[in-house]
Amino acid sequence: MESIIEVKNLTKKYESLTAVDSISFSISKGEIFGFLGPNAAGKTTTINMLIGMAKITDGKIFYKNNDITNKIKKFQGCIGVVPDESNLYEELTGFENLCFCASLYGIKRSKREAKAKQFLEIFQLSDAADKRFKSYSKGMKRKLTIAASLVHDPEILFLDEPTTGIDVASSRQIRSLIKNLNEDGMTVFLTTHYIEEAERLCERIAFINKGRIIKIGKVQNFIEDISQSNIIEVLFESTPIDKNVLLEKLKQSFPELECSFKNENTIKLISTSKIDVSPVVSFLSSNGIYILEAKLIRPTLEDAFVKLTGIELDVMKKEKEKK
Ligand SMILES: Nc1ncnc2c1ncn2[C@@H]1O[C@H](COP(=O)(O)OP(=O)(O)O)[C@@H](O)[C@H]1O
Ligand SMILES: [Mg+2]
Repeated sequence: MESIIEVKNLTKKYESLTAVDSISFSISKGEIFGFLGPNAAGKTTTINMLIGMAKITDGKIFYKNNDITNKIKKFQGCIGVVPDESNLYEELTGFENLCFCASLYGIKRSKREAKAKQFLEIFQLSDAADKRFKSYSKGMKRKLTIAASLVHDPEILFLDEPTTGIDVASSRQIRSLIKNLNEDGMTVFLTTHYIEEAERLCERIAFINKGRIIKIGKVQNFIEDISQSNIIEVLFESTPIDKNVLLEKLKQSFPELECSFKNENTIKLISTSKIDVSPVVSFLSSNGIYILEAKLIRPTLEDAFVKLTGIELDVMKKEKEKK
């Protein structure tokens, strides 16, 4: 596949902190490529370097095989950017914001008004066209921000956590908009800390943590690899002992199993061979845990993520609550 962006050993240091640590990857034309990782992994910093909003400490960026590391501004006409915090004007209406963005790209007045209307329609914001941006809901704001990033027909779209902090219905709409744009040929680079979102949207992903890429590949391949494993979830009412103590005990008694907590009431067991659940159930019962159900499950990207990164799902889920 033809690469549109290639990044080599990209690094960003803030004094003593290395926010992005020598990462390398490429984005192919026409794909949706995602950065999946917890808070502070370095996702926003990476995007900011790619779009010319953060100074690069080290490394190189290529656009269609041309080194653009020191001239990113020149390439800004080819990209659309949807930052994690909207960059639109609170006092302007939706229509005015889009017209204003179009004017920044030198689009003629008659054309920009038609374009603004067209985008408001596509993003189902026509009814709010003449309302001020500040009166918009978070979901509407994000949709208008995406619309604004597209007025100059960019070749690549960068989205930083497009659905974080947004209601379920708007999130679904935004995901489907991103899919549609991609089906019409748009190359997309997005960041997310929602594993499910990465699984639904991306063709390829990089798992990123503490400024480093831990693993990079096709979502499909990650899932196929993990499908070789057997996974059982054990659902219980509550545990009288501390979660970490319980995990330690489980690991000692069943060294062949990978054990982790999926949530407060569910333990996940992974093994490359068939799992005999009855000794596990007996073990848990003898520790005062009342089991409600044990079931075999189909592996998802979530399982691959935990296996490959060693990051507990709790860490990713906590992000949701925080934001
Ligand atoms: N302007 C800055 N000055 C100093 N440290 C920063 C700055 N921006 C980000 N960082 C730090 O860099 C790391 C990566 O941050 P960021 O790229 O925002 O992560 P993410 O988007 O994955 O949550 C974090 O530890 C963050 O605190
Ligand atoms: Mg971020």
